[in-house]
Amino acid sequence: MPEGFQQAKWKEPLLSELSRAGRVGTTPPSDRAIMEGSPEPASLVPKSMRREALKLPELSELQVLRHFNRLSQMNFSVELGMYPLGSCTMKYNPKVSEMIAGSDSMKQAHPLQPAETVQGLLSILSDLEGFLSEITGMSRFSLTTAAGAQGEFAGVLMIRKYHSARGEHDRDEIIVPDSAHGTNPASAAMAGFKVVKVPSDSRGQVRAQAVKEVASDRTAGMMFTVPNTLGLFEQEAAEVSEAVHGAGGLMYYDGANMNALLGRARPGDMGFDVMHLNLHKTFATPHGGGGPGAGPVGASERLAKYLPVPLLSRKDGTYSLDYDLPDSIGPLKGFVGNSAVLLRAYVYIRLLGASGLADVSSLAVLAANYLWKSLDQEGFPVSHGKGLHRKHEAVVSVKGELPGNAMKVAKAILDYGMHAPTAYFPLIVSEALMIEPTESEPLEVLDEYASAMNRIYGEIKRGALGKAPSRTSVGKIDEVKASHPLTLRVHW
Ligand SMILES: Cc1ncc(COP(=O)(O)O)c(C=O)c1O
Repeated sequence: MPEGFQQAKWKEPLLSELSRAGRVGTTPPSDRAIMEGSPEPASLVPKSMRREALKLPELSELQVLRHFNRLSQMNFSVELGMYPLGSCTMKYNPKVSEMIAGSDSMKQAHPLQPAETVQGLLSILSDLEGFLSEITGMSRFSLTTAAGAQGEFAGVLMIRKYHSARGEHDRDEIIVPDSAHGTNPASAAMAGFKVVKVPSDSRGQVRAQAVKEVASDRTAGMMFTVPNTLGLFEQEAAEVSEAVHGAGGLMYYDGANMNALLGRARPGDMGFDVMHLNLHKTFATPHGGGGPGAGPVGASERLAKYLPVPLLSRKDGTYSLDYDLPDSIGPLKGFVGNSAVLLRAYVYIRLLGASGLADVSSLAVLAANYLWKSLDQEGFPVSHGKGLHRKHEAVVSVKGELPGNAMKVAKAILDYGMHAPTAYFPLIVSEALMIEPTESEPLEVLDEYASAMNRIYGEIKRGALGKAPSRTSVGKIDEVKASHPLTLRVHW
C-alpha cells in the first residue's frame, strides 16, 4: 500500500438493515392540513389506487442522507481523481453545461410537446448540427442516435441502402482493421455484412496495399478509426480511402477518437463518407456506467438523404423535426435523441469556440505524450510504432514473464486513489494498458500518475507487490461472478 494512505474499507449496510420499526424521517404536511380543516392527503387518493402496508425501510432523514453520501464516496469519478481510461475519454464536464442541461426549462420539456412550443431547444439543436458539420467537414448530422455503437449501426445501414439504391446488391463485405474497437465488426455484422479483417503492420498502421488486397466488387465499405486505438495517426489514411473508393466502396469514420483531431483535421476533408461522433466523450458528457450518451451520425452530401430520422429543418422561421423522409434508413431511437447530452455538447462548443477546440486537441496530445514518456520505458514498452508520436492516448505492453501483469498494475494503481487505464485493449497488444489522460489534467497530476505507475512496476520487478487493491471500498472482485449471477434485487 502506498505510504500515507489509511486502509479505508467499509461495508455500507443496506437501508433495510438500518431500518427500525416506528422510526420516521420528515413529517408529511398532513398535520397542518388537518389543523386547517383540509382532508388527510392520503384520503385524496382513490382507495383502489392506494398501496397499503408497503414494506419500506423506516429511517430518520439523517440516516438516509448519510447512507447516500457514503455510497457516493465509495465510487470514483473524474471529480475525485484522474480517470485515464483509454478509448473512453473521461474528461472533465464543465459545471456550467451541467447547470444549463439541468435547468427547469429543459427538465420540463416533454418529447411529445408540439414543435411550436420548443422552438428554442430546436434552434439550439439545429445550431449544434451546424457546429458538428463544420468541425468534421460533413454535410449533415442526425442527432438522434444514443451511442457510438448505434451511430456505427446507422452508418453501415446507410452504406447498405446506398448500394442497394444503385442496384449493387452483391456488396456484402465491410473491411475492418484488427486494431478496431469491437463495436465496429459487431455493427457491420448486425447490419448483415461479412466482416473482412485487415491487419495492422508492426508500426500499428493499416497499409493501403493490405486494403487493396482485400478490396473487391464485394466491398460495401471500410470502417476506419483515425487516430486508431493504439493512439497513432493512420499515415496512409488518404491512400486507404482511395483504395476503397477505387473498388466502389464507401469510407466510414469511427469518430470516437476525435479528441485528438478537434480543430486540426476533418474526416470530411480526408475523404470519409459517413461517420459518428461520441458526444459523451469528445464533447464532455461523462461516459460509462450505462448513463445516457449521444452518437450523432454525419454524412457527406451524397449520403445525407439516408440519415436516420428525425432530421431538423427550418421553414418560414419555424423549426420542425422531419420524420417523413423517403430515403432515410428510418428511426433508430425515439424523438430527437438524448437532448440533455446534446445540450451539454452545444454549451461545451460555445464555451470554447473554434480556437478553444483546437487547444483541446493540442493539450490532449501533449498530455498523452508527456505521460507516456514519463513512464519507465523498460516496464511499459510500446508494442507497435516505436519512435512515432502518440495522439490522444498511448498503449503500452506491461513487461513480465507471466501473463497478468497489466491487471496487477490496473488493480495496484487504485490504492493510490487513481483510476486504472483501460486494460487488455486493443486485442493486438499483449498485456495492454491504454492510457488517455485527456486535456483536463494539470502537469503535477500527470507526474504523480507516472510516478505511481513506475513505483508499481518496481514492486512487480522485486516481487514485492502486495495484494491490491486494499484501500478501496471493495477488494479484488471476481469479475466473472460480478457480471454473471447478477443480483439486482434484495428480498427482505
Ligand atoms: C474507438 C471506439 N469506437 C466506438 C466506440 C463505441 O462507442 P459507445 O461506447 O458510445 O457505443 C468506442 C467506445 O468507447 C470507441 O472507443
